[in-house]
Amino acid sequence: GRVAVLMGGDTSEREVSLDSGGNVLAALRSRGVDAQGVDGVPALLDALQAGRFDRVFNILHGGVGENGVLQGLLAALRVPYTGSDVLGCALTLDKIRTKQVWLSEGLPTPRYERLPRGADLRAAAQRLGLPVFVKPSSEGSSVGVFRVLAESDLAPAIAFAASYDGELLMEQMVRGDELTVGILGDVALPSIRIVPAGEWYDYHAKYVAEDTQYLCPGLEGEDEAALRALALRAFRAAACSGWGRVDVMRDRERGLQLIEINTAPGMTSHSLVPKAAGELGCDYAELCWRVLEQTL
Ligand code: DAL
Ligand code: MG
Repeated sequence: GRVAVLMGGDTSEREVSLDSGGNVLAALRSRGVDAQGVDGVPALLDALQAGRFDRVFNILHGGVGENGVLQGLLAALRVPYTGSDVLGCALTLDKIRTKQVWLSEGLPTPRYERLPRGADLRAAAQRLGLPVFVKPSSEGSSVGVFRVLAESDLAPAIAFAASYDGELLMEQMVRGDELTVGILGDVALPSIRIVPAGEWYDYHAKYVAEDTQYLCPGLEGEDEAALRALALRAFRAAACSGWGRVDVMRDRERGLQLIEINTAPGMTSHSLVPKAAGELGCDYAELCWRVLEQTL
């Protein structure tokens, strides 16, 4: 059947999504799939109403593409789509609630505080101990994330993060290794350890810099096995399925710490899931095919 590759949209990650989507579209076509790109959810709904598509490959990052709204619409219309369903998407686009679920399951995640409007930032930072990250709860690609090293950074951090929608959180900064685990079906792919050339893996290190290093697998032996097992547990605990990516840090003292889940992970030329799948001999087009196959 005809496949819509949903990308773009109006989120802060629009450009990343167009990059991901263009690659996915080309890959599916190279495998003989009758696929077309669609920019944003309103255009998709029009096209579905006109009977132009039978299924959706969703690669719209953030916002309604990744927070359950799209998934609810498509479920109601009985149109098969890639990735997690309403619950997994809605939960994991909310970093605060994702952490609450993990904590309730006894899974490790850095300590945090919610920052409602008017919260006493200094008190929160003192309870957690600097350095901390201030993040919008529902953005991606490190957009709106601010690293706070000193108390004097608190006010600018909040102003910066608050220019994005919704709630904010303050999270203890983990010192150690930055890791990520792609999930494909029931399998945790080999992990990747990310070594940014700068201070942390921010938007620039993710998509622009050519000097970010990626090591795959990220850990060795039992450590790697434990990381993959934790990622799979975290993914399932958050009601996710199909495919996705679990971001993890390894703290020098406290060990593995879960950071967040992406249910429509990046598929750009710099992105991580394609690198991890490649390590298993599954090239980019094969990866796209395997994700699409889940809708058949
Ligand atoms: N949110 C970006 C696209 C990622 O997680 O890869
Ligand atoms: Mg994310």
